[in-house]
Amino acid sequence: MEILDRNGIHDGLVIDLGCGSGLWARELVDAGYRVLGIDISEAMIELSRNRVPEAEFSVGSLFEVEILRCQAVTAVNEVLNYLFDAENEDRGLGRLFRRVHDALVPGGVFVFDVLGPGQVPSGTRARGFRVGEDWAVLAEREEDVERGTMERRIVSFRKVGEYYRRVHRVRLYDPSELSAELERTGFRVRTLRSYDGHPLSEGHAAFVARKPA
Ligand SMILES: C[S@@+](CC[C@H](N)C(=O)[O-])C[C@H]1O[C@@H](n2cnc3c(N)ncnc32)[C@H](O)[C@@H]1O
Repeated sequence: MEILDRNGIHDGLVIDLGCGSGLWARELVDAGYRVLGIDISEAMIELSRNRVPEAEFSVGSLFEVEILRCQAVTAVNEVLNYLFDAENEDRGLGRLFRRVHDALVPGGVFVFDVLGPGQVPSGTRARGFRVGEDWAVLAEREEDVERGTMERRIVSFRKVGEYYRRVHRVRLYDPSELSAELERTGFRVRTLRSYDGHPLSEGHAAFVARKPA
């Protein structure tokens, strides 16, 4: 919110790519912005619609949906690393950067963060877990340096007795290459080590890409 504020964006349309369950959309609507949230997961969009009935949401891939004229585009929490759409696998982010640049009004901003390489030491598996009152999530991470990807094997338990297992792969992006690509697209770029007060973990970088006014 402070990033929008600092860039003189106090109202208008914010398009939130990979909006998940609508947490950020809720904050934006409460602060007076209009919001269009996009997510590839129908289940996430259902959660978003329940959380933020005032906003618009649409199921679709951020690599395909039309990005309308807007004041800001956000993609928060590793959204661009996900390989849920084959286009991310094949073409990288250049085309997306151009689409966002075209959609933004002059002075508009694109705010996102990505995980870069070096998440897990080569040849090793990192294991971790998180526990809540009625849930536990166990995760194992392994990086494929040559392919520039990381696989997360996640097992979740809920107290109701249900459990499921999921594996997903994410692409890891070199922050300096992404900055160069954004600059080539016409953005002025700043990289951040935290979202205002919220520090990002090692190898996780955030970007504020401003379309010059
Ligand atoms: C780690 S979650 C972040 C959710 C939300 N931005 C937040 O911070 O709470 C990543 C989200 O990106 C969505 N996603 C991944 N690939 C996508 C794609 N190609 N198009 C649209 N959404 C995508 C996932 O479904 C998931 O909801």
